[in-house]
Amino acid sequence: MHEPFHLKYRPRNLSEVIGQETTVTTLQNAVNQKRIAPVYLFTGAKGTGKTSTARILAKMINCSAEKVPCNKCNSCISINNGNNLDVIEIDAASNSGVDAMREVIERTQFAPIGLWKVIIIDECHSLSHQAWQSLLKTTESPLKNVTFIFCTTEESKVLSTIKSRAQTFEFKLISEDKIASALVSIANEEQFDLDINTAKAIATAKSGHMRDSQTLLDQLYTLGKPITKDVIEEVCGIVNESTAYKILVYLGTANYQIVKIIVSSFIARGKSPHKILTAIVETCIKYITQAEHPIKQVWNNKELQQIVTTLTNKEHLTKGEFSDIWVQAILMEIARVELNERFLPICSLWKSENDALAWGKEQLPNHDIDAAWQNLERINGKKAPAWIYYIIREQIINLV
Ligand SMILES: Nc1ncnc2c1ncn2[C@@H]1O[C@H](COP(=O)(O)OP(=O)(O)O)[C@@H](O)[C@H]1O
Ligand SMILES: [Mg+2]
Ligand SMILES: [Zn+2]
Repeated sequence: MHEPFHLKYRPRNLSEVIGQETTVTTLQNAVNQKRIAPVYLFTGAKGTGKTSTARILAKMINCSAEKVPCNKCNSCISINNGNNLDVIEIDAASNSGVDAMREVIERTQFAPIGLWKVIIIDECHSLSHQAWQSLLKTTESPLKNVTFIFCTTEESKVLSTIKSRAQTFEFKLISEDKIASALVSIANEEQFDLDINTAKAIATAKSGHMRDSQTLLDQLYTLGKPITKDVIEEVCGIVNESTAYKILVYLGTANYQIVKIIVSSFIARGKSPHKILTAIVETCIKYITQAEHPIKQVWNNKELQQIVTTLTNKEHLTKGEFSDIWVQAILMEIARVELNERFLPICSLWKSENDALAWGKEQLPNHDIDAAWQNLERINGKKAPAWIYYIIREQIINLV
């Protein structure tokens, strides 16, 4: 059976825990000096190594090998397999009540079979008020050779009296570079090709979450095709910058029709309306901070900022029902429907159709100008503004 990467490559000793150097050093010293705290609190975002580290610590203090954990002795193996009687792991997300806690507390009253009883209370922010209260008494007067490890993504929900008794370790988000090299190591181990840049694209697609990145790698590997950025975008429904740029260009040059076609085709290919808006916002922010960019021929910084504001205010609409309609409606609000006054000077000089055509030929020398003019869709019944937008669009659409 194929074991998912995120389980197969769960860190089994402290040296395999990535990106948590301070925590790792402190815990290693505590074990070396036999200074084990009665209560630990591991906080930080999901998939940063809290549960893994809790299990590693449990193994380290219960292993009698010279270099702990050995991952070979009975104690280590049974902890790895989740059936060591001294190590009690509770998922508070599904056991949040006081009864489950009472049961745990009862079990701490017996001496450990091995060296230490370790109570890991995972997702402890879900515990009920009563459950916390019952733990309060137990953690008040530390029991010999018992340690509690609370893990949580929401530190603010931990009872402050427990917090003040606990040694707290904050698990940091792991950088995309570190995740990428961890993914490359997995690929080497599994003997398939993955270059570092593609690995980084996976980490980026999963916003720097280790577990999610490993799961995505697993999914991409299972697909059985070479792993490329295009495949990643396809699988994740990512809308890339060049698409967001195109949408912005069309929106700014009065071609809502084309935007509608592009957006519909994305939705048909499984990209979520929310991801489309997010990509546009992300791209706008990037362009605002760049002094020069082709987009500025169509949208100046103030206008880009306005787009960001509009999309940010309406973004929630694309998370619920009818999101495909909402995304169109929101983009329609941004779309320019008449000639921006910045472009007026261009056509104010034209006296006839020929002047417009001549200008077009000058701008786009290798273009079939006559055909374009024939097929032009008017704006508010007028050809001149439509022509200016058409020419500008053709000039810049493929620059990114
Ligand atoms: N710091 C890390 N170093 C190495 N792998 C990690 C790290 N954090 C998470 N992982 C990977 O993600 C999986 C889940 O990690 P876990 O310890 O359960 O995270 P958490 O409890 O913080 O949500 C692990 O099995 C491992 O594959
Ligand atoms: Mg966890
Ligand atoms: Zn061992």
